[in-house]
Amino acid sequence: MPNSLLSVSGKYAVRTYGCQMNEHDSERIAGLLEMDGLEQTDSFDDADVIVLNTCCIRENADNKLYGQLGNLKKLKEERPDLQIAVGGCLAQKDREIIQDKAPHVDVVFGTHNVARATGLLAEARISGPITEIIEESEVFPSALPVKRDASYAAWMTIQIGCDNSCAFCIVPAVRGREISRPYNELVTEVEELAASGITEVTLLGQNVNSYGRDLTLKLRGGELPPDAEDLAGKVWVAGSHTARPLFSDLLRSVSEVEGIRRVRYTSPHPKDLRPETITAMAEVAEICEHLHLPLQSGSDEVLSAMHRGYTADRYLAKVHAARLEIADLALSTDIIVGFPGESDSDFEKTLEVAAEARFDNAYTFVYSPRPGTQAAELVDKYVASSVTSTRMERLRKVIERSSRLGNESRIGHSEEVIVEGRSKRDPNMLTGRTRHNRLIHFPANRPIRAGSYAQVNVTAARTFNLMGELVEVTASPKHRTRIPVVAS
Ligand code: SAH
Ligand code: SF4
Ligand code: F3S
Repeated sequence: MPNSLLSVSGKYAVRTYGCQMNEHDSERIAGLLEMDGLEQTDSFDDADVIVLNTCCIRENADNKLYGQLGNLKKLKEERPDLQIAVGGCLAQKDREIIQDKAPHVDVVFGTHNVARATGLLAEARISGPITEIIEESEVFPSALPVKRDASYAAWMTIQIGCDNSCAFCIVPAVRGREISRPYNELVTEVEELAASGITEVTLLGQNVNSYGRDLTLKLRGGELPPDAEDLAGKVWVAGSHTARPLFSDLLRSVSEVEGIRRVRYTSPHPKDLRPETITAMAEVAEICEHLHLPLQSGSDEVLSAMHRGYTADRYLAKVHAARLEIADLALSTDIIVGFPGESDSDFEKTLEVAAEARFDNAYTFVYSPRPGTQAAELVDKYVASSVTSTRMERLRKVIERSSRLGNESRIGHSEEVIVEGRSKRDPNMLTGRTRHNRLIHFPANRPIRAGSYAQVNVTAARTFNLMGELVEVTASPKHRTRIPVVAS
């Protein structure tokens, strides 16, 4: 059954910018377009419908989009029937600007309208260009049809929005307040994913470890409604009904689903990282021993100006506690360089904390003022780009050192790897991910299907990946995957 008013034939292409949440929304947009009878293509030249799912977290994300829209103008002139839709966070924020700068865009839709994407395209075919932004979400993107790239791993959005107010961040303005999906619905979805052959799930949320705060707040005080267990799960309902967050319970419930071998989550907020979550990670074999814990800065003054809600010591104490309890933990982070007012000594503290935390990986960003955020107002405190580029270089060196050391420490270990496909650089090599989320390349002497699990001995380490030798394949995927992996 097509889900929009007017079904079409032809091809569609979706381009995604930004975070996994957007990637996941794009899978849903693709799912809806396929239900409408369209077929996927990678090339804009072949596409009858082009969807750009946008991000506005940093400046270059905006610039990239406007560049892309400029290129598409010519295509639209050549083929007036081509439909162009722009969705996601930048569309939510800059709806009018997009229509002004790019009147050849047919549909602009916001972060809460993913479910309406194809309906809007159909309406626009009749009525001309449409901009529709709804402020409240009716359908969580995870509850929509899906078209996944991989048949063995899935993302699941467990919560949308963010209730924090980090001074640099545009996300709360474009994704709205935090809303958690009902607990039992999530567990049921994972059961369905597992039944369809998915073995790895990644729980997604902008503030993923505060999952359930809104649900339990709603339920506290007074008698529990009949749907309390659906909303908050058995463990919470049977317990003392305190403000205890549900995230660690959810990690456990998802891990118990038969067929699920790996559970990941991103991004947790350090201030909300509770001992229960660390204990669940330590106790439950399916939860991968990898923690992505965004630091942002090592300076207490900067952290306070950012409104992050923790100090550098507090952050390090949490890392220390996690390392003590979770055997063999890998740690990654996000760091911003050049937040307004960041002095040389603030930055030195970031270097110190980074060195002490021994990150296995870090995403480092130069601060980018986002109009409408608190920090963007601090114009007289902006740090010069000549300063930020030198700082960035120094930080990169510190991260690369700990990343290389972390990778080298794996040499001689046998790692469980999920096989992703052929290596992009060398088709004779296979590529996989370890439980730590490290990329590993290894030659294979026989065909192995994507989604298989294998033990691989680590033989060498580079800064950003590992090299290894296959020991044995330990599990094959339930279904034949669309990208068969055959290595000679
Ligand atoms: N919710 C996640 C972060 C989402 S954004 C969290 O709290 O960790 C991903 C990363 O982008 C952030 O961790 C931050 O390091 C970076 N970022 C966000 N806004 C930024 C800005 N204005 N300038 C530079 N980097 C930014
Ligand atoms: Fe942005 Fe902070 Fe929310 Fe993360 S926690 S999305 S950085 S406001
Ligand atoms: Fe970008 Fe929106 Fe994600 S701003 S980082 S796509 S939540």
